[in-house]
Amino acid sequence: MTRLLASSTFRLAALYLGLFSLSAALLFGFIYLSTAGFAQHQTDEIIETEIDALAEQFNQQGMVGLVRALDRRSASARATRGLYLLTDANFKPLVGNLSRWPDEEPDADGWVTFALQYADEASGDFGRARIFRLRGPLHLLVGRDIREQKAFEALMLDSLIWGAAITFALALAGGTLMSRAMLRRVDAINDTSREIIAGDFSRRVPVSGSGDEFDRLAGNLNAMLDQIERLMAGMKQVTSNIAHDLRTPLNRLRGRLEQALIGNPDPDAYREALAGSIEEADNLLKTFAALLNIAQAEAGATRERFAAVDLAALIRDVADLYDPLAEERGLTLKVDAPAASPVQGDRHLLFQAVANLLDNAIKFTAAANAPDKSIAIRLDQASPGVDIVVQDHGPGIPLDQRTRVLDPFVRLEDSRSEPGNGLGLSLAAAVAQLHGGTLALDDNRPGLRATLSLPVGPAG
Ligand SMILES: Nc1ncnc2c1ncn2[C@@H]1O[C@H](COP(=O)(O)OP(=O)(O)OP(=O)(O)O)[C@@H](O)[C@H]1O
Ligand SMILES: [Mg+2]
Repeated sequence: MTRLLASSTFRLAALYLGLFSLSAALLFGFIYLSTAGFAQHQTDEIIETEIDALAEQFNQQGMVGLVRALDRRSASARATRGLYLLTDANFKPLVGNLSRWPDEEPDADGWVTFALQYADEASGDFGRARIFRLRGPLHLLVGRDIREQKAFEALMLDSLIWGAAITFALALAGGTLMSRAMLRRVDAINDTSREIIAGDFSRRVPVSGSGDEFDRLAGNLNAMLDQIERLMAGMKQVTSNIAHDLRTPLNRLRGRLEQALIGNPDPDAYREALAGSIEEADNLLKTFAALLNIAQAEAGATRERFAAVDLAALIRDVADLYDPLAEERGLTLKVDAPAASPVQGDRHLLFQAVANLLDNAIKFTAAANAPDKSIAIRLDQASPGVDIVVQDHGPGIPLDQRTRVLDPFVRLEDSRSEPGNGLGLSLAAAVAQLHGGTLALDDNRPGLRATLSLPVGPAG
């Protein structure tokens, strides 16, 4: 109950209830006052007409005429509901159907509403009349029994009060039910979150199927949980891959050193063992550097360091670095890098990404001993951004493997003979994503065409 009272829906419902009650009260009050006012106005008009008629009698026949008229009218007053009373100077009744002069004070015009007392019957009803002072000095009262009007007013007031009470009760019940319903749905979300916090990641927020705001919220939360679960699964995979892929070279390194230690103490053998160990250590360092770069790109932390990067110059630098390797492996490298709009980015990571694409092209084309030994790297001004395209005529990557090779540590069967850890394409893809771009792998018929597309202008 306290939770219900503290809920924002209930408070909102209470606020509406207050406003609603206020306007209902104003409306009912207005109806009551105008209806009652209208009835009184009608009565007053009838009394005025009667006064006019009596004044006519008085003018024509003097006091005798007036008294006769009053007598006549009093006799038939039961049907007309008229009230008449003529008294002497001390308010002692002379003619009329009232037993006594009213105690109530009249207003400035002589109008008065008073407790009724007939000459012939006791009653607790009300009359309305106008009173005059005549010559003599006599007092005259002409009015109407308004018990029916009063009863109608009372009835109306009763109905209005009951109506208001019922309206209030209905609004209160409606507000409570509404906030209960809302609270139930929020509770469902809360329960699910608690279970997830407690460790059950498979839990999802229930969706009612009505497609309302709560369903949309639940849908978004569920999509978010799916995404988190996917990311966590990916992270677990990468972690175990890292553990596995680092253990192998470390074991190899350890084996080499151990062998050198227990073997014959020949300085040449030592030298060879040390050189091999250094190579192995270098390999490990390279893997670490690649993993670090990927982590950096995926965290998006480097975005603050973004600056304008001249891609044409970058491509030429990468090509210069790999030209000797291509030549050594009997390949020709063709570079086509015309000046293009600079992109906002991290030059170091972009360099690593492009270098990995070119490294792959050289490595796998040479390993497969492809007949066409030309490799090309070029910069294309594409419509919204720029494309860096690396093409080779090597073995290429089968269509069904092109998404998989973007995952860390994935290497295809045929490429095991070449050095590497399967991190190059992951890095290139992560770098593309960091810059708001994409990495696409296509068939170069034969060979692979890798396209790194980057948007021009501020990234993100
Ligand atoms: N140009 C290419 N031609 C043929 N196969 C390729 C090419 N580029 C990549 N691949 C395949 O995709 C796999 C993953 O490439 P990636 O660059 O991620 O790893 P790697 O080159 O094997 O190792 P690293 O880049 O870490 O040295 C490679 O092992 C290879 O099987
Ligand atoms: Mg590679």
